[in-house]
Amino acid sequence: MYVDNASVPARKPVTVPGLRAMKAQGRKIVMLTAYDASFAHQLEAAGVDVALVGDSLGMVVQGHRSTLPVTLEHMVYHTAAVARGLHATLLVADLPFMADRDTGHTLEAAARLVGEAGAAAVKIEGAAPHILDAIAALTARAVPVCAHLGLTPQSVHKFGGFRIQGREQEAADRVLAEALAVQSAGADLLVLEGVPSALGERVTRAVQIPVVGIGAGPHCDGQVLVIYDMLGITPGRRPKFSKDFLAGRNSVAEAIAAFAEDVRNGAFPAPEHCFD
Ligand code: KIV
Repeated sequence: MYVDNASVPARKPVTVPGLRAMKAQGRKIVMLTAYDASFAHQLEAAGVDVALVGDSLGMVVQGHRSTLPVTLEHMVYHTAAVARGLHATLLVADLPFMADRDTGHTLEAAARLVGEAGAAAVKIEGAAPHILDAIAALTARAVPVCAHLGLTPQSVHKFGGFRIQGREQEAADRVLAEALAVQSAGADLLVLEGVPSALGERVTRAVQIPVVGIGAGPHCDGQVLVIYDMLGITPGRRPKFSKDFLAGRNSVAEAIAAFAEDVRNGAFPAPEHCFD
């Protein structure tokens, strides 16, 4: 059986400029991860705005302890599968660990994720000088870029674990400066992960590009979760910033629809999903 979107109500495709318009209009952006065509179809059917093929697949699909073992081949394979399940939902794919080792590699990786696999944008972690160069080089070639700041999982060893970032004033100021820097370099979208809600609000107000939070409080322009976390099927303890949307519901479709509704009406994230 193949994934057929014929039964899904037609929607206008979500675009990168469209996401910026959503920020300007105060309409929340709904984003979820997906790793295969069937889940992509579920996102499409629920009217999710953005599907992210995250390198979190290294943890929730492949069973690793971090995202670092994920390769470009893995990302291309899963991105192509997700692309086959989508129609109007915008597709963003992660650049895996070390794809940013130099700008040439970053461009080649983006060419495969966008040109071969069908992503509309690529996500890159951090704001080091070579990352800003890579964002500028991608932007110059009309590849939309989603930046990723705060608790960037590819820096897990530097951070000494998956730790909330930006709690002290100096660290918070640094995250804000990084957000302004990735925006200046040309980023179109920013995922902000694992920071206090007050910093999430500061960053969201300071930049013109949409900020999609995960554990970054309710004031971001949108919210993203790892789909297996929000279905309650990730083994082990559920992260504080996530919620089991399948609990008390009858289907994956209902759970995704509830997430989309709660993000759009501001019910998610609630205080218990946020950090001080
Ligand atoms: O890899 C991923 O799924 C991500 C999200 C957690 C934002 O980067």
